[in-house]
Amino acid sequence: MIEFRSVTKTFPDGTRAVDDFSLVIPARQTTVLVGSSGSGKTTLLRMINRMVEPTSGAVEIDGVSVLDGDPVALRRRIGYVMQNSGLLPHFSVIDNIATVLRLNGVARREAHERARELLDTVGLDQALAERYPSQLSGGQQQRVGVARGLAADPNILLMDEPFGAVDPIVRTELQQELLRLQRELGKTVVFVTHDIDEALLLGDRIVILDRAARIVQQGTPDEILTAPADEFVAAFIGADRGRRALHLKQTPHGTVVVDADGRAQGTLVQSPADLLDAHPPRATDEVD
Ligand SMILES: Nc1ncnc2c1ncn2[C@@H]1O[C@H](COP(=O)(O)OP(=O)(O)O)[C@@H](O)[C@H]1O
Ligand SMILES: [Mg+2]
Repeated sequence: MIEFRSVTKTFPDGTRAVDDFSLVIPARQTTVLVGSSGSGKTTLLRMINRMVEPTSGAVEIDGVSVLDGDPVALRRRIGYVMQNSGLLPHFSVIDNIATVLRLNGVARREAHERARELLDTVGLDQALAERYPSQLSGGQQQRVGVARGLAADPNILLMDEPFGAVDPIVRTELQQELLRLQRELGKTVVFVTHDIDEALLLGDRIVILDRAARIVQQGTPDEILTAPADEFVAAFIGADRGRRALHLKQTPHGTVVVDADGRAQGTLVQSPADLLDAHPPRATDEVD
């Protein structure tokens, strides 16, 4: 469990990035911090692994302040995946993944063995092991970033907009992979995004943030979709614009389900029984 207690962070130039923030993040679940750019998400994440220290208040992991003890040791037991993958350009894929293990004192051979297993874990071909980051696609680089984050088998995995820079199809793939991984690994994942749809998909719990990391609402995706706390949240999840309302559209090839923006979301199967099997109804999906 990670706990923020009345945490404030004011940077030396006077910017208050986080103002009196308190939150309990349960273990072995995915908690998504979602808010627009500049709301303080990265600052919050970096206070967990002490890359940023609070101006006041405390951040605790299992009841122990992150300021107690050695910051380097702390960082080695917390996985951190960044938006631009943060890979070392002059290290091969396998060395990028193995670096954390080497720093932890694992012998080279053993570190490489473990790194190769991690390629499988994140769905990367072993043939990519000797390549350099610049020789990989954006999606592959992000997978390497995730593998590196998992290398030391940390209990906590921090992910800062890890899929922000890849195209929508690869992004969907990476999101599904993360859901699968999380089912297998059960880490305490703290995931940061500005994309509410990503938050609703990945989060066991979602925390919606406004400026200076003010918590506007927190809860499960269902709680947030069915009872947005205020107009800010309603606007954020698109409820006010009916973005989540689904409609049927007849086409020469059959009936297509479209959203309020007219984007196809799927096709309608023929019998109502099939429909229920394929898409159990949700309180929030209106079909007219
Ligand atoms: N090192 C820094 N010095 C001064 N201001 C900073 C620093 N890092 C972040 N900020 C400011 O703090 C606020 C929150 O930033 P950040 O945590 O990066 O937000 P987010 O990740 O939600 O986009 C922003 O106004 C940003 O400009
Ligand atoms: Mg950020």
